[in-house]
Amino acid sequence: MWFHKPKRNMQSIQANNYLVHFNQNAYEALNTHLKENKYSNLFIIVDNETNEYCLPKFLPLLETDLNIEIIEFEAGEANKNIETCIQIWNVLTELGADRKSLIINLGGGVVTDLGGFVASTFKRGIDFINIPTTLLSMVDASVGGKTGVDLGNLKNQIGVINVPQMVLIDSNYLETLSQAEMRSGLAEMLKHGLIYDAAYWKQFLDLKSIDYADFDELIYRSVEIKNDIVIQDPTEKNIRKALNFGHTLGHAIESYFLESEIKTTLLHGEAIAIGMILESYISLHKGLISTEEYAEIKTALKNIYDDVQIEENDIDPILELLIHDKKNEYGLIQFALIEGIGKIKINQSVENKLILDAFQDYKS
Ligand SMILES: NC(=O)c1ccc[n+]([C@@H]2O[C@H](COP(=O)([O-])OP(=O)(O)OC[C@H]3O[C@@H](n4cnc5c(N)ncnc54)[C@H](O)[C@@H]3O)[C@@H](O)[C@H]2O)c1
Ligand SMILES: [Zn+2]
Repeated sequence: MWFHKPKRNMQSIQANNYLVHFNQNAYEALNTHLKENKYSNLFIIVDNETNEYCLPKFLPLLETDLNIEIIEFEAGEANKNIETCIQIWNVLTELGADRKSLIINLGGGVVTDLGGFVASTFKRGIDFINIPTTLLSMVDASVGGKTGVDLGNLKNQIGVINVPQMVLIDSNYLETLSQAEMRSGLAEMLKHGLIYDAAYWKQFLDLKSIDYADFDELIYRSVEIKNDIVIQDPTEKNIRKALNFGHTLGHAIESYFLESEIKTTLLHGEAIAIGMILESYISLHKGLISTEEYAEIKTALKNIYDDVQIEENDIDPILELLIHDKKNEYGLIQFALIEGIGKIKINQSVENKLILDAFQDYKS
């Protein structure tokens, strides 16, 4: 089992006002935190899957005399909404949660986003700790302080920026995660390489040669990169927009496949992988990357992710969704492109024709 190989002692990463702890260090930091803070009681929020797969791993490592209550909701993005929050606020109230209660969110991005929002708003905000259990939530949702829920079809429409007391990343939880969910999280790691660190990107070119014991190091580097970017630009005025690489078109594709009755739903990372190919093509044709770089990116992504059928008549509705993307200020579609592998060029407007060409090239 590769996750059980001994790991080097990984230093905690200083995020904006909190620490991200890794593997063995994480539980020590948590237990110390519990000793040093006089919490009244402890609530652990899980979904039904992390209740089954992750909670049994977590509880034996927890050292505390506090009364512990488990709050479970049904897994899935469809439940990341205000109704679920209301249920949890009610349960917290019935179980006597107060301003000195602590919430631990144990799960993927749905649990940490929703649980973070529940904690940030309950009695005007109580302490919470996030333990991400999917690859995506470890490398992406662990940093940045975004919490929130969806409003109908509108993703993350309601929320607040608020930081946890700490984040614990333990790759042992990934043991039970499906290959598809692993690949979905991997897309964000590839993005981190493409926008910020060419040497990091290179490590993924021959995935088969990656000794999975090294995977911890890769997760660590991704957290470091996202954190570096967020710290430089917490309010997303400039460089943080780099994190949108692959997401302008990727989000539109993800929404289109979600809404379509005949298409199978794509995981976030699967849609972002397509978005990164398309936006690399656009980067190529804006003279920002070379033909060789484009070929390298396209080949690497197509090796990892299955081809997705995008028909001629899918493209228009995808572009419609793109225009409605909330990230477009003043009606202009702005892309974060790459300028060579490992470097970003933000605020790029792109003509429609080039977007259409990018789709044709993806299909070829
Ligand atoms: N706050 C942020 O900055 C940020 C960043 C990226 C994504 N997000 C949000 O994160 C969400 C997506 O996160 P996600 O991909 O983790 O989805 P998710 O939380 O829905 O998890 C995916 C599935 O895996 C299951 N699961 C979780 N951990 C498991 C484990 N260890 N073993 C087996 N199954 C497990 C879950 O129950 C779920 O069914 C979206 O709502 C997105 O908006 C937030
Ligand atoms: Zn993403």
